[in-house]
Amino acid sequence: MRYLAPLFALCLLIAAACESVPNAPDPEVDPVGYGQHMYERKCQQCHELYDPGEYTRRSLDRALRRYAPKAGLQREDRPYVLEYLLANAKDAR
Ligand code: HEC
Repeated sequence: MRYLAPLFALCLLIAAACESVPNAPDPEVDPVGYGQHMYERKCQQCHELYDPGEYTRRSLDRALRRYAPKAGLQREDRPYVLEYLLANAKDAR
């Protein structure tokens, strides 16, 4: 029975580690979900998240291009964030 305690501690540790890194949706399967995940992760370092529903597609496109480099949003992740923003814009199609 002596080995159970460390085993239990190890399980808790693994569970905690997994929880602290929330899984991003697979961009292949859920591009908009992945875009939202990256938006929430990268775009609130300077301000609270802006609700894309309050902005037009045009201004969201412009904002993303202006702020993506400052947010450290990787070039390959930008199309996904843009897709999420545009899909939820005030004038979304
Ligand atoms: C380096 C700091 C910084 C980061 C990181 C940042 N923003 Fe911003 N953002 C600003 C500032 C400053 C404003 C202007 C706020 C104001 O008008 O008072 C702003 C405003 C905005 C607006 C409102 C429209 C506008 O242009 O005023 C949107 C939308 C926006 N940001 C989107 C984003 C997105 C998307 C990201 C992630 C890619 C992001 N921001 C990351 C600094 C930042």
